[in-house]
Amino acid sequence: MNFQLFEKEVQEVLEEYRFGLKMLETELEILIKEFTLKHKYNPVEHVKSRIKTLESIEKKLIKKGFEVTKESMEKNIHDIIGVRIVCSFLSDVTDIVTMIQNSREIRIIDKKDYIANPKDSGYSSYHLIVLIPIYLASGVKYMEAEIQIRTVAMDFWASLDHKMRYKFPGVIPEEIQKEIYWCSQYVKMLDQKMLAVNETLKKSQEQER
Ligand code: GTP
Ligand code: MG
Repeated sequence: MNFQLFEKEVQEVLEEYRFGLKMLETELEILIKEFTLKHKYNPVEHVKSRIKTLESIEKKLIKKGFEVTKESMEKNIHDIIGVRIVCSFLSDVTDIVTMIQNSREIRIIDKKDYIANPKDSGYSSYHLIVLIPIYLASGVKYMEAEIQIRTVAMDFWASLDHKMRYKFPGVIPEEIQKEIYWCSQYVKMLDQKMLAVNETLKKSQEQER
């Protein structure tokens, strides 16, 4: 079974997810602007967002052993709306999470701290599953979204890791897995070093004042 049988119905829900993404993007833009004005510092390097394609939703449902239906998609896929916030320093990740926590529009329903507890692959990022309201004529509806927050260094590792994984149709050989994992350790060291340098710089600036 696939989505084609009731494509119109699914397309309608996807349209609602697109509204959700717009709402989320706008709210994040405001929060980041406000933070930047208040602290005279923009912690964000860039923000990237996307709506998962129908093909990719279908693949994920099948892979996870779920039914390929509209209801199953709404219940089981938590990242149809995906936003990635890439920031400069490790400390920025914490600030951005706090900023989102304080938002009145965005409601956090789940958190995964892969920075404190990286995945076996070496993957490191902070994930939030959130609800964002959309205001329809029929009333308010809450759409689920995944927000990934990571440093540029983590983003560099993750995008290269992703590319390499796609080149291997099957399981990646153990040796290569290890190499990729070690690369993540360099990334971690780099982030910690950059954070320390930045903290030193900030302190010396404060003393000058
Ligand atoms: P999914 O079935 O992938 O959604 O897993 P999950 O529901 O356990 O979510 P999780 O928070 O673990 O990961 C979701 C997303 O994080 C993925 O879609 C990727 O974007 C990213 N991710 C997780 N693990 C890795 C990894 O090892 N490498 C890379 N490059 N990205 C990863
Ligand atoms: Mg995912």
